Order: sequence, then C-alpha cells, then structure tokens
Amino acid sequence: MPKIAFLGAGNMAAAMIDGLLAKKTPAADLACFTASGKTAAPLAARTGIAHAHSVDELLAGADTLVVAFKPQHLASADPKLATLTAGKLVLSVLAGKKLATLAKSFPHARAVVRTMPNTPGSIGAGMTGWCVAAPLNASDRVLVGNLLGALGRAVEIPESQMDALTAVSGSGPAYLFEFAAALRDAGTAAGLAPDTANTLAIETLLGAASLLAARQIEPEKLRDAVTSPNGVTFAGLQRMAARDFRGLVRETVLAAKARSEELSHDS
Ligand SMILES: NC(=O)c1ccc[n+]([C@@H]2O[C@H](COP(=O)([O-])OP(=O)(O)OC[C@H]3O[C@@H](n4cnc5c(N)ncnc54)[C@H](OP(=O)(O)O)[C@@H]3O)[C@@H](O)[C@H]2O)c1
Repeated sequence: MPKIAFLGAGNMAAAMIDGLLAKKTPAADLACFTASGKTAAPLAARTGIAHAHSVDELLAGADTLVVAFKPQHLASADPKLATLTAGKLVLSVLAGKKLATLAKSFPHARAVVRTMPNTPGSIGAGMTGWCVAAPLNASDRVLVGNLLGALGRAVEIPESQMDALTAVSGSGPAYLFEFAAALRDAGTAAGLAPDTANTLAIETLLGAASLLAARQIEPEKLRDAVTSPNGVTFAGLQRMAARDFRGLVRETVLAAKARSEELSHDS
C-alpha cells in the first residue's frame, strides 16, 4: 500500500483508517489532517497514524488523498490542494459532489474517484458505490479496491446512477433501522415485553440478512421457504401485499433519489 493521506478525521475517515489498519496496513503509511486539528489529534493518538499540521505536510510523500470532510468544506478548502495533489490519486467520499466539481478542485490529480459509502462501513460491513471519469489503470484499481475494501464491499457504477445508489445503499441502512423499530413496536403491540421485542426484531433482521448472504439466492425463494399456504407467515405477508409494501419501498427509494438529485444538482 502506498502512503495515504486523509483530509478530514471524522466518522468516515476513522472507519476507513480502522479498516486499513485491521488489514495490516502499517500505521506509518497513513496520515490525517483537519484545519482545526480537533478530530485529527485524537484519531492519530488512538491509531498511531501521523498527524499532519498542514496540507503540505499531509501530502508530502503521499500517493493518495482521501477527501473525507463535509461536502460544504470543499468550496473553502485550501487552494494549495490543487497543486499538492498533482500526480496523486484523489478519492472523495463527499456526498453529492460530482466528478466534474472534484476535477476543478484537483485538476492535476492522476485520477479522481467519487464514492458513496454507507454507515455499516464503520464495522467493515459497508456497501460503497464508486465512479470515475476515465478508466483507472490496473494498479489504481487495486488501490481503490483496497481502500474501499477497508469499509466492506464496493461496486463501480456509472456516475449517472450515483443518485439511485445513494437512495438504495446510502440511505438503505436507515430504512432497515426504521423497519427494525417498526418490528419491535409491532412485537410490543402483539403482547411482548419491550426488551424481548427489541431483541427479537434485531436478531431476526441480522439472522435473515446473514442467511440471505450465505445462501446467495433470491430473497423471494427464502421467503417462500418459510411460507406455508394459509399459514402464519402467509397471513402476515398477505397484509403486507394488501398495503402495497413493495410500492411503499419503491416510493421511498424514488423520493430519496429525487432529493439526492436536487442536492447534487449544482455540485
Ligand atoms: N458518515 C457516513 O455514513 C457517510 C456516508 C456517506 C458519505 N459520507 C461523507 O463522508 C464525509 C465525512 O462525513 P463524516 O460523517 O465523517 O463527518 P464528520 O464526522 O463530521 O467529520 C468531518 C471532518 O471534517 C473535518 N473538517 C472540517 N473542516 C475541514 C477543513 N477545512 N479541512 C480539513 N478537514 C476539515 C473535521 O475536522 P475537525 O472537526 O477536526 O475540525 C472532521 O474531521 C462527508 O462528506 C459525507 O458526505 C459519510
């Protein structure tokens, strides 16, 4: 792994750094910097990576820059970054910031990668989408795979699909957290103690997702395997169908996609 610099040291940078260290990347190959130093100092102290005190120090000897501050910080970022990233790979996790915008901030980078991770990345179970303006060379593809692999799985998509991906895997964890809460509340309404309902909801989601991943078959097949005609599960599923559960999920994703398009329109 070449030297990787992190601009930003918040949740997303920490998730990626923890993942890289867990995969045996030497701490000496990683560095972070933030303008205030507020999050960079404790992150460096906890992980043993270098704490740079300027963007010049951050980029000195680095091959790759991971841009991991908030999207609104890009406009006011140090203009020196344009020259300091010359010849380097730049990987952005900034939600909604398009490749064309990133190219203006990092005009001399050898490649710019736009990514959309999700929060399960903080425990290595993330799903990240990424895109590039022009195909990466073989070694940069490996590098991007290793960097995003620190968060979990990754998939390359055309930039035109980034808002759809954001609506599915970016926001998706929130939909499932809401589903877990709804299942917990329904369990309580059905007569279970709140703690028991909570455990049942969480463990059922976890177990069902693990089974789905382990079996590698369509969710419909696993659903049908636990649904006897006119049985208990059948009664529940019929109510979901009567209230057009799939239509609701489709509307949810389309609403999120539309908002993502709106937010990234001029960025
Ligand atoms: N969290 C997620 O699940 C998720 C998912 C997808 C995409 N993202 C993207 O990830 C990015 C970071 O999110 P986050 O959750 O990690 O945010 P966060 O925890 O709030 O961290 C933001 C970081 O930006 C730093 N920062 C602020 N101004 C800066 C500047 N001028 N120069 C350098 N660093 C600066 C802050 O440093 P100080 O506090 O030390 O000043 C802090 O380390 C966002 O762009 C977001 O769109 C996050």
